[in-house]
Amino acid sequence: MAKILLTGGAGYIGSHTYLALIDAGFDVVILDNFSNAKPDVPARLEDITGRPAHVYEGDVLDRAVLEQVFSDHTIDGVVHFAALKAVGESVEKPLDYMQTNVGGLLNLLSAMDHAGVRRIVFSSSATVYGDTDIQPIPEDHPRTYTSPYAFTKIAGEQILEQLPDDWAVGILRYFNPVGAHGSAMIGEDPEDIPNNLVPYIAKVATGELERLSVFGDDYDTPDGTGVRDYIHVEDLAEGHVLSLKSLLETGEGHTVNLGTGEGSTVLDVVHAYSEACGQDLAYKIAPRRDGDVAVLTARPERAKEHLGFEAKRSLADMCRSSWAWVSGQRRNDPN
Ligand code: NAD
Ligand code: UD1
Repeated sequence: MAKILLTGGAGYIGSHTYLALIDAGFDVVILDNFSNAKPDVPARLEDITGRPAHVYEGDVLDRAVLEQVFSDHTIDGVVHFAALKAVGESVEKPLDYMQTNVGGLLNLLSAMDHAGVRRIVFSSSATVYGDTDIQPIPEDHPRTYTSPYAFTKIAGEQILEQLPDDWAVGILRYFNPVGAHGSAMIGEDPEDIPNNLVPYIAKVATGELERLSVFGDDYDTPDGTGVRDYIHVEDLAEGHVLSLKSLLETGEGHTVNLGTGEGSTVLDVVHAYSEACGQDLAYKIAPRRDGDVAVLTARPERAKEHLGFEAKRSLADMCRSSWAWVSGQRRNDPN
C-alpha cells in the first residue's frame, strides 16, 4: 500500500486526513514541528486507529529532517498542510508567513525532487479568489490576494504550476472547514480567542466566552449576516484521499474547490449550534469586520467530475461533532 507523508499532519485538517488515509488503507508518516498542535495528538491518533503513528517532530524549513524522512521511508506522495494560517497575523508578520509558507514549500519540493517523489497535494484556500461578487466561485476565477497569507497561497499554487510534466499536483482550495472527528478525540483547539466563527461559538457554548459578536447584519444576504460555505472536516479529509488516489493512479494533476456549494449565514450557524448543544447562545450584532466579504461559496462540480468528491455531511452534523469534541464526549466507537 502506498506510503504518504503528511507535513503538518498533527494539525486540525492534517490529523483528520491522517485518520481518513489510515481508513483507506494507506501507510502514513507525519512531520510536524508542533508549533500549532498539541503534543498528545499522536497518542490520540494511536488510540483511535489502534496502531503506532510514525511521527517526526521537525520543521519543513529544516532540509536535514526532510532528507531523513525520505531516506527512512519510501514515500509515494506528500500532502503539504504545514503552514501558518492566521490572516490577521500575516499582516503583522508577512516575512514569517512567506518564510514558512513559501520557503517551506520550496524546501519540501526540492527534497521530494531529490528523493524522486513527484506527487503532492497542496492545501490551498478560497482566500485565493479575493473579494468577488461571482458566487458560487468556479476554479477558473482569477486569483488575487487581500493579505500576505493569501499571497503565500497564490505563490504556492504558482510555484507548483511551474513543475515539469513528470510531477502530478493536486491543488485543493478549501472553503470553511469546521467540525470534528466522530470519536470526539481530535478537533480544532485554538489556544487564544478564536478568530473563526465556529470555534468562537463553541467557546460561548462551553461558557468560556460570554457572547458572540455577529460581524454585520446589513449584508445583501437572506438575514443580513455573512454567508459562507462550511464543510465538515471529515468530508474535507476524504477529499484528500480521493485527490491522492487520483494523482497516484493517473499521474495527472488537478485544481479543485472543496466545499459543499451551499451557503449558510452566521445566524444559521448560531441556530444549528444551539440545536446541537441544547442551549440558547448569546450573541450581539456588531459592526462589519474589516476585509470580510458578504458571500463566499464554492462551485463544487469540478471536484465531483475529477475526483468523485461530494461533501455528505450537513451543517447540523458539523455543529454536533464540534459540540461533542469541545464538551468532551469521547467515543471509542465513532460509528
Ligand atoms: P493547523 O495550524 O491546525 O495545522 C498546521 C500544522 O502545521 C500544525 O500542526 C503546525 O504545528 C504545523 N506547522 C506549522 N509550521 C510548520 C513548520 N514550519 N514545519 C512543520 N510543521 C509546521 O492548520 P489547519 O487548519 O489544519 O490548516 C492546514 C492547512 O490548510 C494550512 O496550509 C492552511 O493554510 C490550509 N487552510 C486551512 C483552512 C482552515 O480554515 N483551517 C482553510 C484553507 C486552507
Ligand atoms: C477566514 C479567513 C480565510 C480562511 C477561513 C478559514 C479572514 C479574513 N479570512 O474566513 O482566509 O480561509 O477563515 O475558515 O480571516 N463571524 C462573526 N463573528 C465572529 C467570527 C466570524 O460574525 O466572531 C462571521 C464572519 O463575519 C463571516 C463568518 O462568520 O461572515 C465566517 O467567519 P470566519 O470563520 O472567520 O471565516 P471567513 O471569514 O470566511
